[in-house]
Formats: sequence, structure tokens, C-alpha cells
Amino acid sequence: MDDSKGQQAQGKKLTPSAIAKYLDQYVVGQDEAKKVLAVAVYSHYRRIGKQRNSGIEIAKSNILLIGPTGTGKTLMCETLSRILSVPFVTANATSLAQSKYVNEEIEALLQRLLEKAGGDISKAQHGIVFIDEVDKLKSSEGEQRGTSGERVQHALLKIMEGAPARLADGKTIDTTNILFICAGAFVGLESIASVTHAFGFISVDDADNQQILDRLNSRVKPTDLFSFGLIPEFAGRLPVVANLQNLSKEFLVRIMIEPRNSIYNQFREMLREENVELEIERVAFQQIAEMAYEYKVGARSLRGIFEEMLTPVLFLIPDRPDIRKVLVKSLFEEPILIANS
Ligand SMILES: Nc1ncnc2c1ncn2[C@@H]1O[C@H](COP(=O)(O)OP(=O)(O)OP(=O)(O)O)[C@@H](O)[C@H]1O
Ligand SMILES: [Mg+2]
Repeated sequence: MDDSKGQQAQGKKLTPSAIAKYLDQYVVGQDEAKKVLAVAVYSHYRRIGKQRNSGIEIAKSNILLIGPTGTGKTLMCETLSRILSVPFVTANATSLAQSKYVNEEIEALLQRLLEKAGGDISKAQHGIVFIDEVDKLKSSEGEQRGTSGERVQHALLKIMEGAPARLADGKTIDTTNILFICAGAFVGLESIASVTHAFGFISVDDADNQQILDRLNSRVKPTDLFSFGLIPEFAGRLPVVANLQNLSKEFLVRIMIEPRNSIYNQFREMLREENVELEIERVAFQQIAEMAYEYKVGARSLRGIFEEMLTPVLFLIPDRPDIRKVLVKSLFEEPILIANS
């Protein structure tokens, strides 16, 4: 990754737009989610270490990222963690739910946050905790109460509410000002939301306002999250919901090409090390995107298709020092090998 850009962004001017711009280098599209994250993180920064004369305490707003699988939720948060100068740790809700010792795991998470803060308690108390795959904590109907997922929700609730948490070494961390970012695919939420929205709780005639209202109406409501299986107290502590969109074929093409460490750039680099130039024509990218789109796992399947396409070439190249260029015109044609004349 490019650290110099990260360092730059770490200066005083880490405005929401600077954060979004940094994310743009690695994450294609998803502008709404980028904006929401950028604003939340910026506000979080500003809250830190500020004595307000007005006596008005500005409360934090934890965030919930919702979007289909493979659309960039985890990528976005991991990318974000690289430019922030506040300590940032990640937990995976799936593994929390599988653990017998949830409270110990959460304690270990806070311990890691403290380590990231270089042992500085007050810094750790203003850190960011990213909890991925929170949708896996759902308790489904018919299941007995107190399922493991629900237990984890209650345990997380405690630190999200801001109770002082005791660590193994006897130190205490107050989690009141820690920012929580949660993410999940929430498969099935759409159908829940479409039922509840079918009643159309707001409507107007004005076309201009209609757009704004459409957006409000398409919001995920806390009640949708309850129906999905989050306990109300947990969902209630994630007031800001940002949606990630399904990736169109056009976005899938851009994902292969544009990010700093895009698949295309990675393979070009690999071949460059063998003194071979790699050129792939746009049609081939479009064909890969079409295929990946059908798999319905977002950008996740791009790499596999891409690698498969180039495997014969990668197999051959090390034995053929005469080849100086590989040209791919289509996913369904053999790559063209151009040798030194
Ligand atoms: N918007 C995007 N821009 C660039 N690359 C993307 C984007 N979305 C997905 N990818 C690619 O797909 C991979 C999987 O994405 P990611 O792990 O962020 O998915 P996710 O939204 O967290 O899905 P899941 O719900 O299954 O965890 C990433 O490593 C990245 O290579
Ligand atoms: Mg993920």
C-alpha cells in the first residue's frame, strides 16, 4: 500500500472529503457509505480532546454498514483503519458467537485497542472498534432464547453503552467514547423492509421532495432490524445506517482496473518482474464482469476468473524468456504471446 498518501492524509486536514478521497483510491463506488463513514470518523476526531465551554456534550453516533456480500464493507473499514491516527481494532462477530468465552474475547479486544494506543488509556478510550458480520448474531424465530448470537449482542451492548470494562491486568477502560462501526450483509433484510415500506408511511405530491422522501422511505428502520433478529437495544445503539449497493457490471470492471492494488495492477506487476508486459483489452474485463455478476457474490469472484484466465500464461512464462508481451483480447480466446524478434 501507499503509505505516503496515508501519512499525508493523517495531517490536520483529515476532513470528510479527504477521508472519502483516500477511500476512493481503494474502494470503487459506494459513495453514500463513504460519506457516512467519513463524516462519522471526522466528527469522532473533533470530539476528542475538545473542551466545550457551552457545556453541550456531542454524543457519538455508532454506524451500521449494510450491503450485499462482496460489495466492499470489510474492505472499506480496513482501508479506513490505515489512515486514522486513532487506535482501531477489528472483531468478527461470527467468531465471537462461536466462542464459549465471549466476555473474555471482548476483554481481549479492548486489550488490543489499548496496545494499539501504545498503552495510553485515554487514547484507547477514544479509539474505534469495527465489528464485522454482526448479522450473524441474529436470533431466529423458533430458536430458544439466549442463543449464542444473542448472548454476544448483550455482551457487546455493555461496551457500546459505555460501561467501564476491566482488563486482565487490572486496568479499566471506559468505553463511553469509543466509536463502534458494525457491518453485515443482512441477507433477507430487503424483503422485511419491502413489506414494512409497502404501507408508504410518508407521501407527497411535489416531485422535488419525492426524491428526498424516497430516500427516507428506503431507510432501514430499527424495526426492520428487530424483525431480522437483532435485539432492540443492540439495533438501537447503531443509529446511523449506511447502505452499500450491489455492484453493477460497470463497477466490477472498474474494480479490476482502477484501485491502487487492483487485480490488473497486481498481475501486471507479477509479469513485469519476469520482464513481460501484460495488456488486457476492455472486452475481456467486461466478459469477466458478466460472469462474476452471475455468481452474485459481488466482486469476490473476480479474482478467481481472472486467475484462471492467466494460469496457462503464468505456467509458461518462466520457461520462455523470449516472450516480452502477453495480450488478452477476450476471455474466450487464448492469450497472444508476443516474442522478441
Ligand atoms: N467497492 C469495491 N471496490 C473495490 N474492490 C471491491 C469492492 N467491493 C468488493 N471488492 C473486492 O472484493 C473483495 C471482497 O469485498 P469485502 O470483503 O469488502 O466484501 P464484504 O462487503 O465485506 O462482504 P461480506 O458481507 O461477504 O463480508 C475485496 O477484497 C475486494 O477485493
Ligand atoms: Mg466482510
